Amino acid sequence: MGVSQGAARPAFSGITRIGIVGTGAMGQGIAQVMARAGLATCLFDQRPGAARQARDNIAAELGRQVEKGRLDAAAAERTLYRLEVSESLDELRGCQLVVEAIVENLEAKQALFRHLEEVLDEDAILASNTSSLSITAIAAACREPGRIAGLHFFNPVPRMRLVEVIDGLATRAEVGERLLALVENIGHQPVRAKDTPGFIVNHAGRAFGTEALRILGEGVAEVPVIDAVLREGAGFRMGPFELLDLIGLDVSLPVMESVYRQWYEEPRFRPHPLLRQMLAAGRLGRKSGQGFYRYPQSQPQASAVPGCASLPPVWLGVDDERDRPRLLALLEALGAEIEHGERPSATALCLLAPLGDDASQAAQRFAVDPARVVALDVLADLQRLRCLMLTPVTREDLRNAAHALFARDGARVALIRDSAGFIVQRSLASIVNLACEIAQQRIAAPADIDLAVRLGLGYPRGPLAWGDELGAACLLRILERLHGLSGDPRYRPSPWLRRRAALGLSLCQAEPPLPA
Ligand code: NAI
Repeated sequence: MGVSQGAARPAFSGITRIGIVGTGAMGQGIAQVMARAGLATCLFDQRPGAARQARDNIAAELGRQVEKGRLDAAAAERTLYRLEVSESLDELRGCQLVVEAIVENLEAKQALFRHLEEVLDEDAILASNTSSLSITAIAAACREPGRIAGLHFFNPVPRMRLVEVIDGLATRAEVGERLLALVENIGHQPVRAKDTPGFIVNHAGRAFGTEALRILGEGVAEVPVIDAVLREGAGFRMGPFELLDLIGLDVSLPVMESVYRQWYEEPRFRPHPLLRQMLAAGRLGRKSGQGFYRYPQSQPQASAVPGCASLPPVWLGVDDERDRPRLLALLEALGAEIEHGERPSATALCLLAPLGDDASQAAQRFAVDPARVVALDVLADLQRLRCLMLTPVTREDLRNAAHALFARDGARVALIRDSAGFIVQRSLASIVNLACEIAQQRIAAPADIDLAVRLGLGYPRGPLAWGDELGAACLLRILERLHGLSGDPRYRPSPWLRRRAALGLSLCQAEPPLPA
C-alpha cells in the first residue's frame, strides 16, 4: 500500500460519468466537486424531489461563489450543466462510478449496491461514503465484491480536501488505483487505507478527546484550562471540549462508541461515562445551548496572577539533560535567582521537569521535599504557556511564587493538580502512539497517516512527524511511566514506537515489503 501521490495517471482513469445516490449534505458536496471538475454527474435520491432540491442547492452555492468573485459565471454555468437529476436508479446506467451517500445503515447500503449491480456495466466501480460501516461487509452482499471500495469524503466536501480511499478485503487493487487517480484529478487529496474501523481519520482522532476526558475525569484540571493548555501549549486550533461542543455529542458519542466496540473494547479508544450522562441531560454542545460550556459563551475570566514580594531561589531538576539549557535560559530571562548546587538549599523552590511522571513521583526520584516542588511541562510551547503541576502538599507560598515568576513576561500560566504526564505530554504521547499503531497494523502508509490527520483533523502537524520532533525515546519514556503509574493498558507503547526509539529511526520510516 503506497503513498498516494503517484506518477501521472490517465485523467479521471477512464471515468467520465458518475452517479451520486443519496443527495443529503454529503451527496450534494460530492456532486458539486465532481461536476466542477468536469464530470457528468447524475443525482438520485429515494425521497421524491430531493435530488432536484440538491441541484437547486448546488446552484445557489455556486451563485454565492460567483458573487464573491471566487468562481466565474461561465464555470458555474458549465458545472450546473453537468448535473443531471435522475428519477430512478436505472437512469444511472452508463456511469463508470457510483458513489453512495445514503443513510448509514448496512442493509440499506447492501440492497442499494445489489440493485446497482443489475444496472451498471461489469467494470463500473461502486463506492461507499460510509464513515463507520465496513466496506467488506457492504461488498459481501454483492455478486462482484472486487469492484467495491470506500470513498470517504469529509464535511463540507468542497472545503475539506481529504478523501480516504478504502480497500475492502475483496477490493481489486486496480479499483483503489483508479479512485486515487480520480480524487487527484478533481483536485482533492487522496490517502489509501485498509478497511478497518474508523479507517485513518476516525481512528487516529480517538486519542485527543478520550485523553482529555480522562484528564478531566481524574480531576487534574477544569474544562477551560485543559482546552487552553492544548491550544496554547500544543498548537491545536481548538481545545478537545470546544471541539466536542462544536460537533455535538449526539454525533460524536456514537462514533466513539462504535469505534471502541468494533475494536473489541481496545482501551485506547475507551470513551468516558460522563459523555452518556451529558447526552441523557441533553447537553449536546452548541446546538442545545449547553455542553461543556454554556452558549452564548461568556468571556473567560483570566486567572489573577498572585502578588509576590520576594521570589525564592530556584533549584532545577530535569529528566532529560537536554532540557536544562533552555530552562535555565528561561529562568534567567524571567529574572529568577538560580541555585546551581547539586542539592537545593533549605529555602529553594524545587522546579522539576519530569517526563511522564507526576510531581509526587518526581519529588521522590529527585529526593526533594514534595512541599517545595512545582513541576513544569517541558513538552508545552514555553513561549506561550507554562503548565505548572503541584504535588498534593506543595506549599501555597511556593505555588504563588512559581506562578508569579512564570507569568512575569505575560505568558499564560496554567496550574494543574498532580497527574502523570501533565496535559500536553500525555495527550501528544497518546496521539503519536495511536498513529504508530495505525502504521504498525499497516492500515495506511506513514505519509498517508500524517496527511490524513493534518487535513482531516486539522492538527498542526502529522502525528508521526510530530513524534520525530518531540523524540521517539522521550515519548516512549512518557508512555512507559504513564503505563506503569496508571496500570492502564491504553498507554502501552506501540511496537512501532519502541522499535524506532531503540534504533534511533524516524517514526515515518516504513519497512520494505518482504519478498513474496
Ligand atoms: P443525510 O441524511 O444528509 O442524507 C442522506 C440522503 O440519502 C437523504 O437525502 C435520504 O433521502 C437519502 N437516502 C436514504 N436512503 C436512501 C436509499 N436507500 N436510496 C437513495 N437515497 C437514500 O446524510 P449525510 O450526512 O449526507 O450522510 C450520508 C452518508 O455519508 C452516510 O453514510 C454518512 O455516514 C456518510 N458521511 C457523513 C458525513 C457527515 O459529516 N455528515 C461525513 C462523512 C461521511
